[in-house]
Amino acid sequence: MYIRFHESTKTFHLFNEHFSYIMCILENGHLGQIYCGKHIHDKKDFTYLVEKIPRAMASYVYEGDRTFSLAHLKQEYPVYGSTDYRHPAVEILQDNGSRISDFRYESHTISGGKPKLSGLPATYTESDEEAATLSIILKDPVTQIRLELLYTIFAFGSILTRSARFINEGEAPVHLLTAMSLSLDLPDKDYVWMQLSGAWSRERHIKNRPLEQGILAIDSMRGHSSHEHNPFMVLKRPSATENEGEVLGFSFVYSGNYRIQAEVDTHDTTRITVGIHPDCFDWKLDVGESFQTPEAVMVYSANGLNEMSQTFHRLYQKRLARGFWRDRPRPILNNNWEATYFDFTEDRLVEIASKAKECGVELFVLDDGWFGARSSDHAGLGDWYANKERLPQGISGLSRRIEALGMKFGLWFEPEMVNKDSDLYRAHPDWILQAPGRSNSHGRNQYVLDFSRKEVVDCIYQMMETILSQSRISYIKWDMNRSITECYSAALPSDRQGEVFHRYILGVYDLYDRLTTAFPEVLFESCASGGARFDPGILYYAPQGWASDDSDAVERLKIQYGTSLCYPISSIGSHVSVSPNHQVLRNTPLHTRANVAYFGTFGYELDLNSLTEEEISEVKEQIAFMKEYRELLQFGTFYRLKSPFEGNETVWMCVSDDKKTAIVGWYRVLSGVNLPYSRVQLQGLDPDVVYSNPMNGTVHYGDELMNVGLLTTDGTSGETPRDIRNYGDFQSRIYVLKAAEK
Ligand code: DGJ
Repeated sequence: MYIRFHESTKTFHLFNEHFSYIMCILENGHLGQIYCGKHIHDKKDFTYLVEKIPRAMASYVYEGDRTFSLAHLKQEYPVYGSTDYRHPAVEILQDNGSRISDFRYESHTISGGKPKLSGLPATYTESDEEAATLSIILKDPVTQIRLELLYTIFAFGSILTRSARFINEGEAPVHLLTAMSLSLDLPDKDYVWMQLSGAWSRERHIKNRPLEQGILAIDSMRGHSSHEHNPFMVLKRPSATENEGEVLGFSFVYSGNYRIQAEVDTHDTTRITVGIHPDCFDWKLDVGESFQTPEAVMVYSANGLNEMSQTFHRLYQKRLARGFWRDRPRPILNNNWEATYFDFTEDRLVEIASKAKECGVELFVLDDGWFGARSSDHAGLGDWYANKERLPQGISGLSRRIEALGMKFGLWFEPEMVNKDSDLYRAHPDWILQAPGRSNSHGRNQYVLDFSRKEVVDCIYQMMETILSQSRISYIKWDMNRSITECYSAALPSDRQGEVFHRYILGVYDLYDRLTTAFPEVLFESCASGGARFDPGILYYAPQGWASDDSDAVERLKIQYGTSLCYPISSIGSHVSVSPNHQVLRNTPLHTRANVAYFGTFGYELDLNSLTEEEISEVKEQIAFMKEYRELLQFGTFYRLKSPFEGNETVWMCVSDDKKTAIVGWYRVLSGVNLPYSRVQLQGLDPDVVYSNPMNGTVHYGDELMNVGLLTTDGTSGETPRDIRNYGDFQSRIYVLKAAEK
């Protein structure tokens, strides 16, 4: 992969074998966008693509010239206060009240690898050969603000990452009001916009609509990336499918307020911007200070959505997630939340864990309710020491008992929150986010600690560090159960209140960083009332996340299918829970609950003591199956084959790197009588390898399975031998296909 600069035409070409990204320095010193798409040959001059014609009502930069208007030029980082009336990437409020800026090219450098972003999560490289980085320096001559735009192109996929850094080299402070991470102008609007939206317990459903003139955006102003809209968006050509056609995916490596927007002008040019939400953002940049935006990641695919997702999966699994657990199959866990909620004793927990151990579970997780005066959601948050009435031997005693069973022990925290009924709040009532003289809203009876303050983060770290050092803890579930309201910090002056949302997230990242550094072998699972912070920012610290509080198998089909558009299977927390399910009261077969949960981290969210002997033997088989195949399921190449958003059936599959094993998950929501024949064309197999299908004992070449398809015919008539468990609503099957011995 290369980055070339052609001096004579002032053109940059970033490319690898699949992808090209071309920019140039325009005559006013701003950066122009020339091409983003499938790889094309490099050459010196692409400037014919900077199209300029006189247009009525346009405003022009140069006297005597009626062609150079930024309104009609494709740009890389448009400013506010120019001849361009579209939404800018940057807006800076200056001492004299002006918001106009004019960032002009000064210099650039090209280097191997990828620099770290200070204090922020970001993708990374492990050698200089994995990626190349272009740093372009621009400067505003009036404010003397220096702007560094970073572009990194990866070798292994069509991936371009971007961020911006502002340095105040002037003589007066300024306020950054808009500082986007990515801005990209595309030459047409012939795209379908796809987003992952929902609400608590139905996160990341796929929603599509065509781009049209005007503005289309998703965002969060809740202080976290939100259940409502994941910080991810896809533009696909209308004819693109899972396996064909042009697709561009945009993902934001950030966990706070954000906005992803497409602005289509009336000449059908599309401007994409990705970054911190400009509303409620106002960062004071004092003389000599710098501000680094979070990273935005763009993935291009000429071969449909599956390829785009696989590129994101590889990048986020291998070069965003880090640490001990990055490449390791995840432990099968049993979490007590839906088994007991707040109603447990130490002995009851050990009873649940013992049964789990008997079935083969490897990790027992104690959820909410173990600390302070926490017997309901009215008290205790902030007091991170064991409730001795419930746990007489503390967390250290309980963790020793669990380990004595031969299992690992994990613990739930909600570090960012406090109940008013807590020792922490009584000692520091001013440590919550609240505006002077105004009432403060609660969510789930809790208040948000001011994580923009170092002393608050220090205090929480100390409490967590103590528990972690004194006990045998192998896993932490980090929860966050409310959105931020009345965002005001008692520690910041009035002209810095617009920084609180971002400083809060920096505080969250700081705590994650300290804990993961001090306890590198602890597995972190993020959670925010299910999936309200299922974003790439958190994935940098916690390699897996609880995808949703909805553990119903049918609901999970949509949630996990949508999530897979951007996030790797190894990151998707998925558990088997009881029937009827606690969220939707639906009864689903035990095997279907497991068949869905296999495509994730896998665990149980119930008391296995409540199952029948027959069910327990099924659970034992499930756990044995997951242990055998989890490496493939979590780290193989994932393909979506049939969408739960489009019909009654869902099909997806994972293929091992050597293509010798593939696991297909087939799910049918409602049953039917005398159904049509059905088959599904598989993906990613070796066409020349013969695979055996243990469901019916047949063998098939890979090309046959990919072109003729795998037969999935089912119904209440036919000759196929039947297992009574496999009829009725909410059915599913797992097909394990193995390369037959030669
Ligand atoms: C919300 C989480 O999503 C649940 O899994 C559980 O941990 C509860 N919070 C506990 O309060």
